[in-house]
Amino acid sequence: MRAGAEHERRGKHLKHSLGFKDYLTAAELSASSAAALFEAAAAFKREPGKFGAMLAGRSVVMLFEKPSLRTRVTFEIGIAKMGGHALYYDHSKERIGERESVYDYAKNLERWCDAIVARTFSHEVVEGLAKHARVPVVNALSDEFHPCQALADLFSLHERLGELKGKRLAFVGDGNNVCASLMILAATLGMHVVVVGPEGYEPAEAAMKIARVKGSESGGSVTVSHDAGAVKGAAAVYTDAWTSMGWEAEAQERRRVFGPYQVNGEMMAKAGGGALFMHCLPAHRGEEVTDEVIDSPNSIVFDQAENRMHAQNALLMNMIG
Ligand code: CP
Ligand code: NVA
Repeated sequence: MRAGAEHERRGKHLKHSLGFKDYLTAAELSASSAAALFEAAAAFKREPGKFGAMLAGRSVVMLFEKPSLRTRVTFEIGIAKMGGHALYYDHSKERIGERESVYDYAKNLERWCDAIVARTFSHEVVEGLAKHARVPVVNALSDEFHPCQALADLFSLHERLGELKGKRLAFVGDGNNVCASLMILAATLGMHVVVVGPEGYEPAEAAMKIARVKGSESGGSVTVSHDAGAVKGAAAVYTDAWTSMGWEAEAQERRRVFGPYQVNGEMMAKAGGGALFMHCLPAHRGEEVTDEVIDSPNSIVFDQAENRMHAQNALLMNMIG
């Protein structure tokens, strides 16, 4: 293929330059870059075969300190479907930065690969990799953010609801990593986000600040409530595990504190008929969500899981395609 034609082919679904090197929180995205990624994700989902050479010759290193089903499988299979190569590096037995510094890690990896995908405990480790590596770094979940999840989630909502601006999204539960990236991206897209949960488990102030700024720019908003009734009027109700990876010692206490915020039939009725149910998964059935809700026709959890691959592929084709 002529170089020009190749460029044209690759550029077809990439009308938008994302304008950032690393994807660490979801705050990197503007409304228009998110829309461009949704378009590319939809194109990949429709006709994956058209993208079979998009990452030809590209290698991605995947460093995982924590377990994963969706993130690992969707990155590995997604990259393979675009002709690239993903190398999974199990970091569950030793934190990144222990055997050698994060700086040296970044300086080695950038010599061999085209992008780094990292799932870590400390968010600072992902930031360090991004700061020191010449190649793009994608956060595959840290204690503070889960931006790939947010991208897939908002794409899934967009598929169902079309224009998201002005619509209400309720996040019920622990205001940590999933909630932080979700509220930032939803606010960027002009949604009204309410985070509902117990006192002491609200989103971090730094993430709230980013989300509020995004909301003020887009006409969206972010509020926090301890009242389960605040889900009223939500187009979608989203929940996540009460005990995230790394917090297992608190599991018993968390079951007690989060109990009143279980997403069950009663909670969905509070939201109002027609509200969609969302979850990043893995779900703890009988804890944060009941079978009745997660298995209901309004549940889109497996669309979200499927869309992890399409959304990440859209991201990677823009970053290194
Ligand atoms: N939602 C999500 O990130 O799932 P995994 O932990 O299985 O990757
Ligand atoms: N908040 C959860 C998300 C898992 C995908 C965790 O960090 O364990």
